[in-house]
Amino acid sequence: MPSKRKLIVGNWKVNPDSAAEAKRIIKETKKAVASLKRTDVVACPPYVYSNLVLSAKSKTPLELGVQNVWTEPRGSFTGEIGAPMLRDIGVSWVIIGHSERRAMGETDEQVAKKSFEVIEAGMNAIVCVGEKVHDAQGAYLDPLKEQIRNSLSKISKKSVKQLVIAYEPVWAIGAKDAMDPAVVQEMTIFIKKVLSDIYGQDEASSVRILYGGSANFRNAPEIITKGGVDGLLVGRESVNPSGFAEMLKVVDAL
Ligand code: PGA
Repeated sequence: MPSKRKLIVGNWKVNPDSAAEAKRIIKETKKAVASLKRTDVVACPPYVYSNLVLSAKSKTPLELGVQNVWTEPRGSFTGEIGAPMLRDIGVSWVIIGHSERRAMGETDEQVAKKSFEVIEAGMNAIVCVGEKVHDAQGAYLDPLKEQIRNSLSKISKKSVKQLVIAYEPVWAIGAKDAMDPAVVQEMTIFIKKVLSDIYGQDEASSVRILYGGSANFRNAPEIITKGGVDGLLVGRESVNPSGFAEMLKVVDAL
C-alpha cells in the first residue's frame, strides 16, 4: 500500500485569550503549511475561533478541526454542539475522548457515540486513547485494549478511512518530556494489533496513528521515525507558531 501522508494536529485547548492572537497563530501556521509536501495539518482552535481559520484567505490547505462534539446530532442539550452543524460550517476533523475530557467524566460509551456522529456527518474522527500509568509489568495493556475496543464500538469497517487514533499516554501530556520513542514504537505495534483484530489487517493498516504528549520540534522526528507513528497530536507547541512551524518543516522532511 502507498505510504500514508503524515498528519499533524494542533490541539489549542482553551487558548489564546483573544481573537487577535488567534489570527496571528493562524496566519503564521498557514505560512508554514504552504511549503509542505507530504504532511497534512489540522488546527483545532476553540469553537469561537473556527471562523478565523476558514476566513483567513489563503490557498494553503490548513484544515479545520474542533476539540469536542456532542453525542447527539441535534435537540435539547443546552450548550452543546452537534456534528452536522460542525460539518456545515467547514469543520473536517474532530478530536474525541481527549484524556482531559475523560477526566471530566466522558466515558468510552460517549466517545463511541461521538465518533459515530462525526463519521456519519462526513468528518474525520481523531479518537484519543492512552493509559494513565505505564507500569513495568504491562498492567495497562488489557485496559488500553478495552478502551480502544469500547471507544470504536460504533465505527464499522467501512468507516475506518475516516478514523485516526491518537495515542496519548496521560502522564506525558503537558509534561516536561515525551515518551521514549522506543516505547512509542511498542505501543504503536500493540495498537495496530488491536485494530487489526477488530477490522482485519488491510483496513487496520490504513488507519493513521498519532502520538501525543509533550511533542515539540526537537523530539518530533525521532518520535515519528523510531516510534513508527504517522504523525502527532500537539498541544502547547501548536499555539507557539515559531515552534510549530519548525515542527512542520522537520516532519515534512522525514
Ligand atoms: P501537550 O498536549 O503537547 O501540551 O503535551 C498534548 C495533548 O494534550 O494533546
